Amino acid sequence: MCGIIGIVGLSPAAPRVIESLRRLEYRGYDSAGVAAHTSAGLERRRAKGRIRDLEAVLSVEPLQGHVGLGHTRWATHGAPNVANAHPQKAGRVMLVHNGIIENFAELKAELIAAGRSFESETDTEVVAHLIDAGLERGLEPLAAFKAALNRLSGAYALGALIEGEPELILGARRGSPLVVGYGEGEMFIGSDALAVGPFTNRVAYLDEGDYVAIDRTTARIFNADGARVERAVRTVAASAALVEKGNYRHFMEKEIHDQPEACRHTLSSYLDPINGHAAPPEGFDFTKVERLQLLACGTAYYAALIAKYLFEDLAGLPTDAEVASEFRYRNPAVTPGTLAVAVSQSGETADTLAALRWCKAKGLTTAAIVNAPESTMSREVDHVWPTHAGPEVCVLSTKAFTAQLTALICLAVAAARQRGRIDAAEETRLVQTLLEAPRLIAQAIADTEDALRPLAFDISKARDVLYLGRGAMFGLALEGALKLKEGSYIHAEGYAAGEMKHGPIALIDESTPVIIVAPSDNAFDKTRSNMSEVIARNGAVVLITDEAGLAHAPSQARSVVAPTCDPLIAPLVFAVPLQLLAYQVGVAKGADVDQPRNLAKSVTVE
Ligand code: G6P
Repeated sequence: MCGIIGIVGLSPAAPRVIESLRRLEYRGYDSAGVAAHTSAGLERRRAKGRIRDLEAVLSVEPLQGHVGLGHTRWATHGAPNVANAHPQKAGRVMLVHNGIIENFAELKAELIAAGRSFESETDTEVVAHLIDAGLERGLEPLAAFKAALNRLSGAYALGALIEGEPELILGARRGSPLVVGYGEGEMFIGSDALAVGPFTNRVAYLDEGDYVAIDRTTARIFNADGARVERAVRTVAASAALVEKGNYRHFMEKEIHDQPEACRHTLSSYLDPINGHAAPPEGFDFTKVERLQLLACGTAYYAALIAKYLFEDLAGLPTDAEVASEFRYRNPAVTPGTLAVAVSQSGETADTLAALRWCKAKGLTTAAIVNAPESTMSREVDHVWPTHAGPEVCVLSTKAFTAQLTALICLAVAAARQRGRIDAAEETRLVQTLLEAPRLIAQAIADTEDALRPLAFDISKARDVLYLGRGAMFGLALEGALKLKEGSYIHAEGYAAGEMKHGPIALIDESTPVIIVAPSDNAFDKTRSNMSEVIARNGAVVLITDEAGLAHAPSQARSVVAPTCDPLIAPLVFAVPLQLLAYQVGVAKGADVDQPRNLAKSVTVE
């Protein structure tokens, strides 16, 4: 994941930038850079690889100056090389950026037509040019910056230095976080409190759409409408400096909101947006795989279960998903062409690790979809397939789950293409669809967060709740039920909608909410019949659907409308209302949602 640090300081900036970037290394990155105002003007140093590579460059060509900007980059648009590393430069502007500018191609064409030339393949350089074009038109730096922001769609956290403005750093946030750090006669910006942690523990979190100008003593913050605003300055406890909640009440809430970014960063490891390809980071040949064995526990198992449907449907690859603790202690009949894939946030879960080792001992090729790059599973498998959710603190997994799903969907697309089940045009279409997922996840949060509150209040009084879904939504029904019971201690069951009539229908009465997850896909009509069966028995139906589904919703159902999306990414988008509902019910019940009783984040016993 990309990281940003900006310093308007009292001592040389470059070594301090390096110190900060080191703290951001856990996010993962593939190039780094630093810019500073020197006596000769604005200069930058960049390197592909690690922070130590950047340090090596600085030892040969030191960078003077007390005002500087640093960045670690996770390649999205363009390969990880020096030309694409940040800061990007255009005329008087040096810019660092986290996120993806979705309309960069149109903007680039427009800027080229206006006579500007580009040195990199990045979307970031386009923004630097837009700002510089504003300066050329005679705008003040802040006005040029705002004019550029007005042209952007997509997600960003930005930091900019302007030639001729040696005491100024500009920053902006939409979709990706940015904090302002308040020091003693010094000011900072950073991608999180950790970035500014070496210099100050007093930070303000920018809100969505905010932008800021800092100098040595002040921060002028503006909202998306350009109005001057104040954002609370809080002191971050030293112990919390590693990961903290920002403006959120609980880590669970924060981590739900982190999901667009977690998804985007995970996509960046699997997708080539320029050529429309999907592949795991080091590449992988799925044509030799005869069978896929997914192994996981808890929430990760539900991600695996959803992936089973996708791998079989899209790639025609026979796939089993099994709870690792079951697989481990029976005598599974595995065949030599089986690829064993563990799915795990921590990479340390004992049952999953044991199942993986069992497969390895049987001579199978192994892989792990894992969020912790230094974990035991990462070290032991043949192929590490990363998720980039960042540290997940809440015991209830949210962003790690959608990041796992993101990686699994990308892998299913890659397998489908390699195995000849889809052609290049369809692969490109699916890649484009995946690239829309971060935006649609963000929209799902915006569209459903408030709408769910009255519902959550009512459900907080229930004793039992039933979740139903078909296809990929069956896995989500199971995950929704798990989240509710973990977060609120209300008994909840997830069931395949078609199975309801074989048992759970006996539970239905007016006091048992039945949550039906049903986007308007090819299973919708069948699920609608199940809904009618519940209503006929006075069950209280909550339908989570999209606009088209809403048009066919029975009047007795309370509906929650998530964004319309391609079925490929529906599990990502529809996970959001289920997570928010569990969170809100937990809060309404006064439960400790971040650390529920009896649960652990990483379960290292079998
Ligand atoms: C614990 C956590 C769950 C998690 C499961 C698997 O039960 O509370 O949130 O889904 O372990 O963890 P892993 O790290 O392997 O994904």
